[in-house]
Formats: sequence, structure tokens, C-alpha cells
Amino acid sequence: MASTTFTSLLCFCMVLEIFLSLVSGGSSASISSLQNDFVQCLNLNSDLPIPMSTFYTQKNSSFDSVLQSSAQNLRYLVTSVPKPALIFTPQTEAHVQSAVICSKQLGIHLRVRSGGHDYEGLSYVSMTETLFIMMDLANLRSVTVDIGDNSAWIQAGATIGE
Ligand SMILES: *[C@@H]1O[C@H](CO)[C@@H](O)[C@H](O)[C@H]1NC(C)=O
Repeated sequence: MASTTFTSLLCFCMVLEIFLSLVSGGSSASISSLQNDFVQCLNLNSDLPIPMSTFYTQKNSSFDSVLQSSAQNLRYLVTSVPKPALIFTPQTEAHVQSAVICSKQLGIHLRVRSGGHDYEGLSYVSMTETLFIMMDLANLRSVTVDIGDNSAWIQAGATIGE
């Protein structure tokens, strides 16, 4: 009984996944319009212009090295695993806020990678969304210790030992 339920659930999920991948397409035309829409939206939702150097498209020669930079599980870097349509490397917290607003506004799936302590690859791979953006917080790694009030603020991109 339980296994029948499980099997039908599994079938349903597979059908749903095929349906979603048909609906969302994934051609290079939609990749570049997604990139444009996202960059444009970020600039509209930001007080200062966001430098183009914070974006890495798939065509950029540094795309792979940025993607690999803090990936701990090399199994998720092979060619058959879906890659983000765009990597965004925010420089300030305000950039992060704009990215969240824009991904919601444009209905773009956003994956967020912090220090990279992620062996499941969930922060830089999506098997369900054909088009997704990866926001890499590597630039946000400051560590502020306040001895006076016994507190420390550590940004999400910091890694152990920093
Ligand atoms: C790759 O992207 C980075 C960051 O946006 C940019 O600084 C660099 O010029 C790009 N390189 C090429 C070859 O397009």
C-alpha cells in the first residue's frame, strides 16, 4: 500500500518535472533575455548603478572558474548537470536585496551560495528549474568583532578560519 502511494507520487513528480521543463524552455534566446531583464531590474531597484563586473554570463571565460570557486562536490560540476543562466556576485548588502526583489518580480529562480559549505550542490544547481540565477556571496565576507558587547557579525560569504 505504502509503496503504491510512493510509486504514484514518484510518477506524478516525474510528469510534473517534464511538464515544467517543457513550459520553461531553455533556449539561449531566453537565457539572454533573462540576463537583460535581471540586470535592468537590478539597476532600477538600486540607488547606485550595479557594476557590470558583478555579472558572469555562461559565455564569459571566467564563468566556470567562478562556478567552481567554492563548489565542494565536484559531481555537480560535470557538463550534464544544469548550470546557472547567470552568476551574480553582489558587492553590498543592498545588491542582495535588489536581487531578491528582482528574482521575485521576474519570476526567476534564485540560488544563493554562501561560503560554499554545501555538499548537496543545492546552492549552485537546480534540477527542477531550467533557468535559474546563482547569487554568489563570496564578496560579502567581512567579520566584525565587538569585544565591548561580546558580539560578532560575520557575513555569509566568510569561510572557516577567516
Ligand atoms: C567576464 O566577466 C567579468 C565580470 O563581469 C568581466 O570583468 C570580464 O571582463 C568578463 N570577461 C570577458 C572575457 O568577457
